[in-house]
Amino acid sequence: MSALLQTQGLQLAFGGVVVADNIDFELQRGERLAVIGQNGAGKTTFINICTGFIKPTSGRVLFDGQDITQREPRHIVRLGLARSFQLPQLFLDHTVRQCLEIAAAGRQGHLSFWTPLADAVDAREVEDTLSLVGLRERASVPAMSLPEGQRKLLDVAMALMLRPQLMIMDEPTSGVASEDKMVLMDTVMQAMRERQVTAWFVEHDIDIVNRYATRVAAWIAGRIAADGSPEEVLSNPQVRREVLGDH
Ligand SMILES: Nc1ncnc2c1ncn2[C@@H]1O[C@H](COP(=O)(O)OP(=O)(O)OP(=O)(O)O)[C@@H](O)[C@H]1O
Ligand SMILES: [Mg+2]
Repeated sequence: MSALLQTQGLQLAFGGVVVADNIDFELQRGERLAVIGQNGAGKTTFINICTGFIKPTSGRVLFDGQDITQREPRHIVRLGLARSFQLPQLFLDHTVRQCLEIAAAGRQGHLSFWTPLADAVDAREVEDTLSLVGLRERASVPAMSLPEGQRKLLDVAMALMLRPQLMIMDEPTSGVASEDKMVLMDTVMQAMRERQVTAWFVEHDIDIVNRYATRVAAWIAGRIAADGSPEEVLSNPQVRREVLGDH
């Protein structure tokens, strides 16, 4: 079977700094990919290219066999490639439940001024998804009142309403207290398994990478310097020196 996502020769520079340096990459269905790399290595830029937010200077992105390089983010999402953000993109004035309803209505193209939101979406799916990420009890509170960990979960839940095949999560545990990170990731990865979503997450905490990834890709200066099993990549001397900061 062909790769779920594939990039060929992706190239991009910002003001002379190469942030994507001829990236060839393939992700298979069912993988749990952790992307590691120092600040500024190009991890978010690569996600932005794969999800249509930034266009590369050259190269191609294929999703499920289709060339999506020049497609707009909203089209790419409808093909089944969803993402969550380094800073969650929520509708802060709305309740948690309404955030999911808006996400679902957006997928169906039902957002309009004259259709009540709750009529436009499958209420069962909304409730199931709230339960899946443990936010059912918080369904009626404004998103604004959630602590950071629950905001991250809400962001993921909203992306799940798009019924993705692939979910790219940019630092799902950033801004969350270290003692809460594992619990958050347990919930997120369990949700991915249950919905059979292929997962790719950016993470700085190596304990989390070891626990949840089946594969690790290490970014250094716009290139994938190492890509393989967690044991292989995390013991790679260049990765240890330049990514993990070992001396
Ligand atoms: N829109 C932009 N315009 C110009 N430069 C940018 C833009 N986006 C990112 N950069 C630069 O490109 C480089 C790669 O940034 P990117 O955000 O991809 O890194 P990252 O690996 O995600 O880092 P972090 O771990 O801090 O999130 C950085 O030097 C950044 O300053
Ligand atoms: Mg980033």
